[in-house]
Amino acid sequence: MSELKRRSFFKLGLAGLFLSVLKPSKASNYLEETFGEKRKIVPIEPIVISTWKHGVDANTAAWKVLGSSGRALDAVEAGVRITEADINNRSVGIGGRPDRDGHLTLDACIMDENSNCGAVACLEGIDHPISVARKVMEETPHVMLVGKGAKAFALKQGFLKVKTPLKEVKKEWKEWKRDEKAKLKHPEINNENHDTIGMLALDKEGNLSGSCTTSGWGYKLPGRVGDSPIIGAGLFVDNEVGAACATGLGEAVIRIAGSHTVVELMRQGFTPQESCEMAVERIIAKHEDLTGLQVGFLALDKFGNVGAHSVYYGFNYAIQTAKMEKMIDASYDRNW
Ligand code: GLY
Repeated sequence: MSELKRRSFFKLGLAGLFLSVLKPSKASNYLEETFGEKRKIVPIEPIVISTWKHGVDANTAAWKVLGSSGRALDAVEAGVRITEADINNRSVGIGGRPDRDGHLTLDACIMDENSNCGAVACLEGIDHPISVARKVMEETPHVMLVGKGAKAFALKQGFLKVKTPLKEVKKEWKEWKRDEKAKLKHPEINNENHDTIGMLALDKEGNLSGSCTTSGWGYKLPGRVGDSPIIGAGLFVDNEVGAACATGLGEAVIRIAGSHTVVELMRQGFTPQESCEMAVERIIAKHEDLTGLQVGFLALDKFGNVGAHSVYYGFNYAIQTAKMEKMIDASYDRNW
């Protein structure tokens, strides 16, 4: 796309009567979108989207908040807590795969409509990293706590210790350890091996928030941190424009500050879909060897428009609004 589409928008607040005549809606708030001379009145309809199939249950929890006029921030925290607590999920929360030494370390971040953000990385033995990340955001002057410091902070905040990894996960890890060759294997991040959950929500007030949480690359080097807890990489929210999150190989996402890139493209006037496609193109251009390099982006703009795109086939996401609840296959650049 050669020509940048300039777009600006602002919130109108509570709609006047004339607006409800224009377009009756349950939503009480409207946005005015301007394209040069053209003006469009857009009602704000709450929406939540999240990566992969585990997003369905997470969205259900988030919708309990959004559907009752709650805040997007509360919705994105409540939503991904469901995935973090799922003992059958091997890439998020307490059911996740450990690092090479058998330690399960979790990464998460959260960001609200005022650009407040919080994150934890390499957090061990605490079941809800997303809630710890929110506490970092709300109770400290910092953005990110890692490792032992993050754990000490979580315990001080009243979070409970959990014993990880789970027994069956530890058994799998021991088997993996026995297979020397497997240690050199590239991670397979596709629709069989689900990755991070990233969640983006727009509430009735027209405010955006996002969350992102993962156990990261299974059997990673101890101390490895991916994109998920890094604001701008795994997640970025700018309430004036939109929000984006990433899934897949974190190292590749960090290299292009992926989620921030998607949001900045939306700021330039590209749609969420175009922005995700351009970020994926940038990743492809930066890597000679794309073997196993799956990355997917998910984006939501200020008006509730959604986009998603991945390097390889297989990325999908869950969407929920007052009118629908479904899984959608993202577009992709290539087949495996
Ligand atoms: N996207 C998750 C990770 O690379 O850790």
